[in-house]
Parts: sequence; C-alpha cells; structure tokens
Amino acid sequence: DGIVVSKLRNDGWVTLDPGFLTTAQCESKITYIDGQHSILRYRGYPIEQLCDQSDFLEVAWLLRHGELPTKAEYDQFCSDINHKTMVGEDFRTFMGSFPRSAHPMSVLASAVNALAAFYPDTTDITDSDQLDEAAKVIMAKVRTIVSYIFRRRRDEPMLYPDYARGYVDDFLRMCFAVPYEPFESDPLYVHALGRLLIIHADHEQNCSTSVVRIAGSAHANLYSAVAAGINALSGPLHGGANEEVLRQLKAIRDSGKTVKEFVDDAKANGHRISGLGHRVYKSYDPRAAIARKYLEKIIDREDTRKLPADERALFDVAVELEDIARHDDYFVSRHLYPNVDFYTGLIYRAIGFDPAMFTTLFALGRIPGWIAQYREMLADPNTKIGRPRQVYTGETERDYVPFDQR
Ligand code: ACO
Repeated sequence: DGIVVSKLRNDGWVTLDPGFLTTAQCESKITYIDGQHSILRYRGYPIEQLCDQSDFLEVAWLLRHGELPTKAEYDQFCSDINHKTMVGEDFRTFMGSFPRSAHPMSVLASAVNALAAFYPDTTDITDSDQLDEAAKVIMAKVRTIVSYIFRRRRDEPMLYPDYARGYVDDFLRMCFAVPYEPFESDPLYVHALGRLLIIHADHEQNCSTSVVRIAGSAHANLYSAVAAGINALSGPLHGGANEEVLRQLKAIRDSGKTVKEFVDDAKANGHRISGLGHRVYKSYDPRAAIARKYLEKIIDREDTRKLPADERALFDVAVELEDIARHDDYFVSRHLYPNVDFYTGLIYRAIGFDPAMFTTLFALGRIPGWIAQYREMLADPNTKIGRPRQVYTGETERDYVPFDQR
C-alpha cells in the first residue's frame, strides 16, 4: 500500500520508498507492535501490564537494559535520577534567556541540545559510563526543564526538587507548587500522568526515534540526537497532534455545527482530523484505550475536582467524534482509529497544563525510548551511518548562464 519502486541508477539499484512504508532501518529487541491486533509490548511485556503494575522509571530501566530491575537496581536508579534533578545557576540563566512567549517545544529542544555544552564530560559516546551518565542527566534534567518552561510561561519562579518524592509526583509539584492545584490531594492525577509517561515511553521506529537513530549513526552525542528527536516530535503529524486535537475539539464546540457536520466538512475539504490514524495501527491504538480509561476516571470525579468547566463537554465531543469515525465508511475503509494523541490532551488539561505544553509531556515520556534506541543502535555491529539514496529527477547537465544573458 505504498509506492515502492526499484530503479537502476548508474551505480546500481535503489529502492524508492517514500515515508519508508516498507523499509526497516534496523533490527530491534526493544518494542513490539502488532498494528492489526492492537498489541504493544516493551521487551515482551504488554503495555497494559506495565501500566497496571509498574512505574515510569522501572519502564525506563526495562527499555534500556532489556530486563526488569532488581529492587536494589531500581532504588539506585531512582536515587541517581532524583539527585541529578537540579540544574546549575548558569543553566538557569541560559533557560531564562528565551522569550516567555517561545513555544515550549522550541525551548525544550534547545535546552536538551545545550546540556551537551553544560556537561561536556558526558559526551564521549565511546565511553559506556559517560553514556550512562548522559542518559541519567537527560532523564533528570528534562523533568526540571519542562517544569521550568511551564512556570516561566506563568511568570512564576523555578522550584527546587524534593529528592524524597517520586518522579511524577515531584514533577507535578515543581510545575504547580503545592497545595493549590487539583492533583495535590488526589493521587489519581499523579497516577494518570505516570500511566501516560509509560504509554509514551517507546514506539519503535516512529519519526522522532528514526531521527534519533540517524543522528546517532553519525556519532552525534546523546544530547544532540535526543534534541533532534524532540524537534521531529514537535510536528503536528507526530507528537504535536495532541495540541492540535484540543484546538480541534474546541473549534467543533464553538463552531455551532454538529460533530457530524464537522466530519463531513473535513472529508469534503480533504482536511485531516487530528488524533485519528496511524502508520502502524490499523486497529485501535492500545495507548488510546489506556488514555481514555484514565480520562473517564478523571471525568467521573469531576464534581469534587477543579476541572476546567468545559472538560466534560469536550470529552463528549471527543467521544462522539470517535463514534462517528468508527461507523463512517471513509474512516473504516482506511482503518483510521483514535491514536495516542486523541485523549491525552484532555488529561493534561485536567491536570492543569495549557495546550502549548502538551507535546513537552509527550517528550518527557519518550526520553527513555530514545535513549534505549540510541544505545541499541550504537551497540549493533550492523549499524552504518544513515544515508538514504534518492532517485534524481532534476535537470541533466547544462552550462551556467551569466546574469546578463538570463
Ligand atoms: N483524517 C482524515 N483522513 C486521514 C487521516 C486523518 N487523520 N489520516 C489519514 N487519512 C487518510 C489519508 O488522506 C489517506 O487517504 P487516501 O488513501 O484517500 O489518500 C489515507 O487515510 C492514508 O493516509 P496516509 O497519509 O497514507 O497515512 P500515513 O500512514 O502516511 O499517515 C498519519 C499516518 C500521519 C498519522 C495520519 O494518519 C495523520 O495525518 N493523522 C492525523 C495526525 C495525527 O493524529 N498524528 C499523530 C499520529 S500518532 C503519533 O505520532 C504519536
């Protein structure tokens, strides 16, 4: 179901495969997806089991090492990450130099790239200890960076980490400051965000992960490669879709049209509906099912929480949109189901994040996957520098024409 053509060039055959629909760039043992049967497993463990029984840092370890950690390994890993959460004053000054109005994804990518400059002793990719250290620096500091971006946008000062707290718990505290936000008295918000980080943690060779691998294949350091991945993730066809979905739900609600009319207009005008469709899932995205489950739990407790007033109305629009798509021939015939971005934005919003922050939360979750994939790529004896070929369709040789003769 794509264009795959083999062409003879003067130096041999190449395969034209736009979007790499049928081209595998590597062998991998990290993540298994069966897109026909809604299956997603990390290192063989079903995502549903990991969401029920594990936590984000344990999943991060699992992705990187291939096995679940022992209790001692887990405790050490959590402690290492916690104790690297702080950033230096010079880094804070650097972060403070971005305009407050900058898009959070631009700031995040720049900040992660800059970590290489602030921690140069962790950039030697031939040294396994330095790579491990760089991975921990990124895992720890991205949490600080995202919370700082969030607070700066609200004209609020950066908060120091509390090493006694868990990864997600302390991230939310560093964003919102206790005790003014809804999650504080309700572990459901901490738990729900923790589940969202787990379902985002890896997704094999998606666009941003491929970018990480290709940058790394040139031996760019881990920070540079992850920063490249963050930039790819920002696109609205990829991670940026979670921000688009919320905009779309609000547009439907405010348009005065029915959801069905919105869908019909989108089809008639060839507009894509954000949050629907996936390159690999041709059945329900299992991550969307998990996100919807947690969103329902949050919505059900609406009466006792400080949810945005229209949260339920937007949830109802989303559910109706999904329902229409699942019964409309256009979407059914193209196997377009809700993807991971369809429901996550409403959870982020319920927790208290504004839409511009949504994709940074996706990135926070995806960091362990990018790190694991980078390490696997480096360790693979078959890795070569990523260098796709092309089929040239431009002019043949011609002579330069001076200005006065054009
Ligand atoms: N709304 C309407 N039609 C769609 C949508 C959509 N969301 N997605 C795909 N289609 C249609 C295409 O127009 C095409 O129709 P055609 O056969 O008549 O030309 C057909 O479905 C196949 O689409 P492709 O572009 O070939 O599918 P591809 O696998 O290349 O794209 C993608 C996948 C980018 C996710 C696409 O479904 C999309 O744009 N979705 C909306 C954006 C989105 O939600 N992105 C997040 C993806 S999940 C993630 O990255 C974390």
